[in-house]
Amino acid sequence: MFYSAIRKVLFQFDAETIHELTIKGLKNTGTTPISCFYKQSVTNKPVKVMGIDFPNPVGLAAGLDKNGECVDAFSAMGFGFIEVGTVTPRPQPGNDKPRIFRLPKANAVINRMGFNNKGVDYLVSQVRSAKFKGVLGINIGKNKDTPEENAKDDYIHCMRKVYDFATYITVNISSPNTPGLRSLQYGDALNDLLSALKAEQTNLAEQYGKYVPIAVKIAPDLNEDEVNSIALCLINNDIDGVIATNTTLSREGVEGLKHSAEQGGLSGAPVKDKSTTVIKFLSKALENKLPIIGVGGIASSKDANEKLAAGASLVQVYTGFIYQGPPLVKDIVNGL
Ligand SMILES: Cc1cc2nc3c(=O)[nH]c(=O)nc-3n(C[C@H](O)[C@H](O)[C@H](O)COP(=O)(O)O)c2cc1C
Repeated sequence: MFYSAIRKVLFQFDAETIHELTIKGLKNTGTTPISCFYKQSVTNKPVKVMGIDFPNPVGLAAGLDKNGECVDAFSAMGFGFIEVGTVTPRPQPGNDKPRIFRLPKANAVINRMGFNNKGVDYLVSQVRSAKFKGVLGINIGKNKDTPEENAKDDYIHCMRKVYDFATYITVNISSPNTPGLRSLQYGDALNDLLSALKAEQTNLAEQYGKYVPIAVKIAPDLNEDEVNSIALCLINNDIDGVIATNTTLSREGVEGLKHSAEQGGLSGAPVKDKSTTVIKFLSKALENKLPIIGVGGIASSKDANEKLAAGASLVQVYTGFIYQGPPLVKDIVNGL
């Protein structure tokens, strides 16, 4: 297919340059005849999770369409849901370039983007003008220069702005590229954040006359005790779902490869088992009280089925999609 033919050429160039060109190409073409280059029909495999009807359980993970500019295009590729963001209250440039590195021998990527995005108002303008009527997750975070003690204000600000446009809202507390962000996963900091977001969700549900579920996205670098206390906190705060996992700080599986010493989060095949282990811990601790969205190293229907068997109800892909393009979505859905 088109993607496999051009991938060899694309991979000769710097990862972020290709990413930017792709986003430019996909923006505004999703509902035009040009979409025939990536459009595909995917079998309906409906599933209901967090009270939401998904046409199929395979979603696009956060970070690829940070500004919500290409939802029509990703919808044409057959994703059952699309998660945009992470978005922050104010626009910010992210870390210095280069900040994305491919490790093709390991089917992996290392990134230290640092939430580069055009701000929540821009994202809302984009998703508002899209034709897409499917399941849209909007993933929210904090600005780098917001002190940790005020992180809650950033999440609440974003939540208010996106509430009317999101099918669900993801609270990202697991990116390794924003200093201090992952500390929000623990103890009182997590409880304070989640209780404030829950209270805000209740207000917004009344204001808009609709309930928009909240999912919390966690890291793969957590032991069983840490996962257990997160699970308890999610249950106690009546959170609607959990996304496991983000990228890892570990370099297991890529030792000695070019770029393996770059700072940032590692994704793709090397994070697969770590993410599945976290899903298993969560599944045990949550006792079906809230659903799990599995993400990390999915590059085939076998990988996706592994996440479902571990306890996930939905899956998402990012790095596998970079390596395989749109055919991966169809392959996974067909093999579920
Ligand atoms: C370049 C890049 C940027 C990412 N940006 C975000 C982000 O902004 N927010 C987020 O929640 N996850 C982000 N992620 C993490 C992915 O959504 C996903 O959780 C992780 O990469 C594991 O899945 P994968 O192995 O299929 O890539 C990013 C991943 C990559 C590779």
